Amino acid sequence: MKTLHLETLDLTPVRMGWDIPPHINRTVKGTPLSIAGQRYERGIWMNAPCSIPLRLDGQARRLRCGFGHEDLVQSANYEAPRLRFQVELDGEIQFDSDWMASGDPARYLDLDLSEASSLILRIVPENAQVGNAQGNWIHPELDYAGAVPFLELAAPEEAPALPPPDGYSSFLPGQRWFDTDGVPIQAHGAGLLEVDGTYYMYGEHKGGTTSFWPKSRVDIIGVGVYSSQDLMNWKNEGIVLPATPQDPESPLHPSNVLERPKVQYNARTGNYVMWVKSQDAHYSWGHAMVAQSDSPTGPFEIVSSERPWKDRSFGDFALYQENGTGYLIIATGKVETTFVYRLSPDFLRIEEELSAAYPGEKREAPALLKQENLYYLITSGKSGWAPNPTRYATATSLEGPWTDQGLLFVGDEDENSFRSQPTFVLQAGEELIYMGDRWDQRDLGDSRYIWLPITLKEQTLSASWQDSWTLRQHSDLSDPSESSDPNSPAS
Ligand code: DGJ
Repeated sequence: MKTLHLETLDLTPVRMGWDIPPHINRTVKGTPLSIAGQRYERGIWMNAPCSIPLRLDGQARRLRCGFGHEDLVQSANYEAPRLRFQVELDGEIQFDSDWMASGDPARYLDLDLSEASSLILRIVPENAQVGNAQGNWIHPELDYAGAVPFLELAAPEEAPALPPPDGYSSFLPGQRWFDTDGVPIQAHGAGLLEVDGTYYMYGEHKGGTTSFWPKSRVDIIGVGVYSSQDLMNWKNEGIVLPATPQDPESPLHPSNVLERPKVQYNARTGNYVMWVKSQDAHYSWGHAMVAQSDSPTGPFEIVSSERPWKDRSFGDFALYQENGTGYLIIATGKVETTFVYRLSPDFLRIEEELSAAYPGEKREAPALLKQENLYYLITSGKSGWAPNPTRYATATSLEGPWTDQGLLFVGDEDENSFRSQPTFVLQAGEELIYMGDRWDQRDLGDSRYIWLPITLKEQTLSASWQDSWTLRQHSDLSDPSESSDPNSPAS
């Protein structure tokens, strides 16, 4: 009889509640595993809901292991749901711990596996919405005879796409997207701006290592900008608002978070004004960073970084202008309302609150569009990096009232917006484009871009999945017909 220590298996394909891999002999924070004050040298840290599926093929004999809540959650003062630890053999639950609370002492199991051909170690949270459902399997050991039981691997990732030799002639949602140098585009949470026939795409450069504690994030590299004439082939124009590693006090220090840059041209001042969501690593600041430049390709200088209105937390947002007046739409945490504000004439400050959409509802990722005197406000729900359904609301005035009109996507069977979250909606000529991020929480820099055409019919928006699609009128792109185009510099 031989013994397999389960923590020695390659567990990286295991998918968990935060969509990050299990951690071996250490918590997500890098501290030793600990249950009710007792430290352990070996084990597997997991974040529920999660399971480790093993194929045993009748070779395994016994499973021994400890289990319980990881103490880290308590020390960080986070609310933690109760957990139950289960072992399933050949599709039947053979062991169930019942609900265990954070702080309960570790327990142990010793299970006869007989002739089982499959085994699943599972941790179930009582309330999957709470998060921080961190549980440990301690010294998990499997006695076996014959071949080594192995982890049932998740399907391999699709082979990485290569940049097309003659450039892109269609949009390929979900595929890796390369710039004109053949390098994957780093423009997450992006916003677009059209200037004299050239599109500029501003986005988060997330091309660093994803860390998982206290939240999934990548050290700030900066806001990058790309330019394009056809919206498919993008030239890297560099980092226009870079991180400042030399200044630990700056919100641009790499240890913080910078998300969802959006830029508008202010004809009054001749400046390009950028708003960005600025957070510390715990996402507790809720600040808006405002920066400006006299060129769309920067460099941008910070003007302010603070909560911009009544100490309300600054969340995901959209920046919009009409007839030279600027507007900001902010999904605001805690009060959980999406507010619409009018900006000061220089676009650098909020001047007035105009309306509240979705009062009391957790929304995120707003994007605004105006078509034929009707405003369309697209938003996601709020579930961290996990995708959820996208809805839209309409109003005849930015002063409201806003009326929810239901789901944007058609055929979205999993109700997760084809695994994406909105970041912008673009009017390009006659066409409307949904721009979203397919966040990859294991590797945020490899999050893919989901751009899909939007159809507008009788004041109803809809979008469906396309593996590949093109704009109907490439040549007209630089001639947006609507004077209220939110993406053009005001004239
Ligand atoms: C969803 C937001 O839209 C993203 O920009 C990011 O802040 C994540 N939440 C973090 O969980």
